[in-house]
Amino acid sequence: MQGSLMLRLLVLIVIVSVISVGFVFGCLPERDPAPGIITEDESAAEQEVDLPVSGDIEDDETANDLEDQTGDEAEEEEQDQVSEGGEETVDSSSGAGDGGSGFNRDSLKVIADGNYLLALVTKETTLKSDYKPSDLRQIPSYMNPSYTMYLRAEALEKLEQLWAAAEADGVNLLGIRSAYRSYSTQDSLFRDYAGRHGEEQANRFSARPGQSEHQLGTTVDFGGTAVDFQAAYADTGQGRWLADNAHLYGFVMSYPAGKEHITGYIFEPWHYRYIGVGNAMEWKQSGKTLKEFLEEKPQMFE
Ligand code: DAL
Ligand code: ZN
Repeated sequence: MQGSLMLRLLVLIVIVSVISVGFVFGCLPERDPAPGIITEDESAAEQEVDLPVSGDIEDDETANDLEDQTGDEAEEEEQDQVSEGGEETVDSSSGAGDGGSGFNRDSLKVIADGNYLLALVTKETTLKSDYKPSDLRQIPSYMNPSYTMYLRAEALEKLEQLWAAAEADGVNLLGIRSAYRSYSTQDSLFRDYAGRHGEEQANRFSARPGQSEHQLGTTVDFGGTAVDFQAAYADTGQGRWLADNAHLYGFVMSYPAGKEHITGYIFEPWHYRYIGVGNAMEWKQSGKTLKEFLEEKPQMFE
């Protein structure tokens, strides 16, 4: 009788233990960090990228190359040669090579504060290699269910407003293909493109490390269409809506058509940088490229 009581007691203890352990594990946080907060350095594998311009590269070649580079299943598309708005086309077969580009990092002006919304990021300036915005937040999964991407808090807040406004106008913005990119991610990207296209050609569509607005954490590439990273994106419902409305939410198209001689980059109707609503309204009024507009704003260099 006493033995049976002991047995029942033992069974009870086991049941209580199993329930307790289950409860404790059930309450443990998920493996991933809490949404919206970065707890560790961003992973290159989680980044999507700006894409190359070329008419002469096989799709599977670029896809494989990018996979190598990111170590993940990031997909890549080819960007059409740009011919819109009088923009000259890119001929990657011209073989610019990677020598003789005349690029000299020491001659660049070093941007003192990457957090400054109006920081001038051009081919003549550079962000420091260790510059990383301190207030990066994870973008919501409806903007890209496949990859973890980050933007600065204010830019993300405005992007969400912009997204909702587009939706209210009957335009589904579909997705974000790239957002914050670290110096080292940009370095890998540029090296990869330069290896395939030559530095000179690569630098028409891809920024050198330190020179990408994506490092600011305020810049996004919209996509999700059949013509992502192509000039034809401008003619989609998404591209048109953004061109007409993005400035109302503080976003500016950095590289418009026909302005490569000023901006240094081909037409990128998918690439938008957040500079604050008031500034973007002023920029729209100015009719200038973002580079020209920012050149007239106070800038601090080291
Ligand atoms: N595609 C733009 C120029 C960048 O790489 O930041
Ligand atoms: Zn971009």
